[in-house]
Amino acid sequence: MEKIEVKINPVGESSYPIFIGKNLLNNLYDIIQKFTKASRYLVVTNDTIYSLYGEKLKNECSQFIILPDGEIYKNMDILQRIIDKCLELNLERKDAIIALGGGVIGDMAGFASSIYRRGIDFIQVPTTLLAMVDSSVGGKVAVNHSSGKNMIGAFYQPKAVIADTNTLSTLDERQFKSGLGEVLKYAFIEKNCACQSDFNFLEFLETHKNDILLKNADITEKMIKICCSLKASVVNKDEKEKGLRAILNFGHTFAHAIEKLTGYEKYTHGEAVAIGMTMIFNIAVKLNYVTDGYYKRCINLINNYSLVNTYSEEFLPEDFYNSMLSDKKVSEGRINFVIPTGEREVEIINNIDKNIVLEGI
Ligand code: NAD
Ligand code: GLY
Repeated sequence: MEKIEVKINPVGESSYPIFIGKNLLNNLYDIIQKFTKASRYLVVTNDTIYSLYGEKLKNECSQFIILPDGEIYKNMDILQRIIDKCLELNLERKDAIIALGGGVIGDMAGFASSIYRRGIDFIQVPTTLLAMVDSSVGGKVAVNHSSGKNMIGAFYQPKAVIADTNTLSTLDERQFKSGLGEVLKYAFIEKNCACQSDFNFLEFLETHKNDILLKNADITEKMIKICCSLKASVVNKDEKEKGLRAILNFGHTFAHAIEKLTGYEKYTHGEAVAIGMTMIFNIAVKLNYVTDGYYKRCINLINNYSLVNTYSEEFLPEDFYNSMLSDKKVSEGRINFVIPTGEREVEIINNIDKNIVLEGI
């Protein structure tokens, strides 16, 4: 079992461990009890995950709420159902919520935890690759609104993240690859994260492509650990996204527009991120921010992990641009772009000419 500490700066209340390893669900409550004083737990999950792993988490101290499965249910109505369940059980502040699932469950359960009784402990138990490498770490919790993705939310850190890598064995091919979308992101922003200066994650992903696509357990675990370390390093310096943390949105401004314009059903989040990263690389090479060689290397990596094969141009670039303008990261009417400026390095800029953006799309 690997352990990584998230040490929110200044180190204090919000710091917590991430455990990554096999069979962690078998003694989940033993691990959890070290990090909360809870005597009762509400496990928030969905029907798919409950049928696979619900049994393992049943005990006399736990109650379940089983939600419908899908990004379209990441909304205020379902959030209300979680809160209603907390009230029905009369959960107290010393009790805790366990988010058992992918990013959708983690984001919703975390947000419910942040508002119920002005904050109740919660534990992230991610079961998708995407949730293990990204959404369960760092405390962004939210639901979607018809005006855009994750529009209503908070920064609220879990008490611990417990990633049982065995759960990845039941994840289908598409969802596993979707998680790889967020994994690749870290390779392109690695130097800004700057926590392992002598390590090259881009090379790691190139070298181990076959092992990763075949879900080799040890390499996958190592990869998850690297991603969590990189993310922790960023969140430790900038928990509330005052600056540096925005690099974690690499590809996301485009991704959120793609998801919104297609009703959150056609593309998974990770696929949309992969498409978004391709678009921003197209813009970066047009602006000579990156060399042709580096551009091709990165696009090859995305293609080799076959992340964007399903994309077809189905909306007008102008509609796409307008959708990006309503993203929550827009400030003073300007879209903030996280753009590659060198090998494994990005910058945040807000003055890219609209026509160049439209060409990139
Ligand atoms: P998801 O939660 O919808 O899970 C994908 C599918 O896999 C679902 O059908 C789910 O039921 C199923 N599933 C989950 N675990 C499984 C398992 N072990 N075996 C079989 N099936 C399983 O999607 P996701 O990709 O995990 O998360 C996407 C969400 O995460 C988006 O809403 C996105 O906005 C959010 N996100 C949040 C952050 C953050 O920092 N908070 C970061 C990235 C993404
Ligand atoms: N996934 C982006 C962030 O956590 O900031």
